[in-house]
Amino acid sequence: MSMDLKGKKLVLGLTGGVACYKAAELCRALVKQGASVQVVMTEAATHFIGAVTMQALSGHTVYTDQWDPRVANNMAHIDLTRSADAILVSPCSADFIRKLAHGACDDLLSTLCVARPRHVSLLVAPAMNVEMWENPATRRNVAQLREDGIQILGPDAGSQACGETGFGRMLEPDELVEELIASFQHKVLAGRRVLITAGPTFEPIDPVRGITNLSSGKMGYAVARAAREAGADVTLVSGPTSLPTPHGVRRVDVLTAQQMHDAVMAKVEGQHVFIGVAAVADWRVANASDQKLKKQDGGAPPQLEFAQNADILASVAGTTSLSGWPYCVGFAAESENLMEFGAAKRERKGIPLLVGNIGPQTFGQDDNTIIVFDENGHTVLPRADKLTLARQLVSEIAKRLEQRSLLT
Ligand code: CTP
Repeated sequence: MSMDLKGKKLVLGLTGGVACYKAAELCRALVKQGASVQVVMTEAATHFIGAVTMQALSGHTVYTDQWDPRVANNMAHIDLTRSADAILVSPCSADFIRKLAHGACDDLLSTLCVARPRHVSLLVAPAMNVEMWENPATRRNVAQLREDGIQILGPDAGSQACGETGFGRMLEPDELVEELIASFQHKVLAGRRVLITAGPTFEPIDPVRGITNLSSGKMGYAVARAAREAGADVTLVSGPTSLPTPHGVRRVDVLTAQQMHDAVMAKVEGQHVFIGVAAVADWRVANASDQKLKKQDGGAPPQLEFAQNADILASVAGTTSLSGWPYCVGFAAESENLMEFGAAKRERKGIPLLVGNIGPQTFGQDDNTIIVFDENGHTVLPRADKLTLARQLVSEIAKRLEQRSLLT
């Protein structure tokens, strides 16, 4: 379990909306990530969820009133924001968005948002009926919030508690936690487009059987999440995995190496970085059957013939000759001589960066050790969970992109 919010002090604001029921789980998830959570509720929010529940989950006194006699100096709006790292208003109602757009200070939560020091980021997770979200007044207010540097998380589209369907549904607690964690990461890939492959491929033998490998996709998904956290626009071309898509990442699902190749080549134009993390099958079954193969008593087992798949990384690297983009990063799992094989593979593949790890024992694991090879040698990123390594790798890539931009 990661503790990505360890040491962070958060104010969690709740405003009036049925999505308050998700705030309990959100509060718990934030605490589990190591954050210290101070809950502040508007009067309307208290009609949807009890302050006692939020108090028990956060472990801190919950404030609901700017005239709270427990606050000796009557300055909760100052006291609560001076030590905060971020304020998250979730759920954020249409009315509270209006208040933020106008700098209103007519209850504790709105006063506290206006009184926050400039380095304390404000994130809001809208939750409302679809018509309220699409109302021109709300659109104007949301645009104003964006202009003021307030981060809008979601909302999502889907079925709503009122029975209608459309945009306005609050993001799920785990997505909000992901967004909050991302808000603390350095935006070293802001404005960059990054294309990533992840997971195994599956090569059919017949309609019900196939050949695949033990890649879980965890490393590729972690790299996609880390790139997104760093501000990149991320497209993830994924073989079959059971992993959830990192929030804010565009995902294209494929099955075979050929499909992965075609999906990548369809998206490669305009990308700044390509990272091939997928464990792509080197061969496909050339004589795959359209019908299910039947075993026959005493008959010979089927004879499979193989044909070589295109090398996706090589195809992408081949497109870089004119513009120099995308910057290509390969992955290699070696079972021995990682140092020697890694450096040689980088040269052979003609790419600026190759990430080596000792496989196949890393497949499916949460931890890994990786070595980054470039034209100057290698850098070891010591054993850590895959998301930590992915973030380090993203900053290694960003450093090199920066140097490139300086040279061109
Ligand atoms: N790769 C790819 N397309 C393929 C095979 C591999 O894009 N058809 C990419 C992988 O995503 C990875 C890198 O190439 O980034 C390394 O793959 P690997 O299988 O280790 O390289 P090979 O050249 O096949 O080396 P070897 O078989 O000698 O280990």
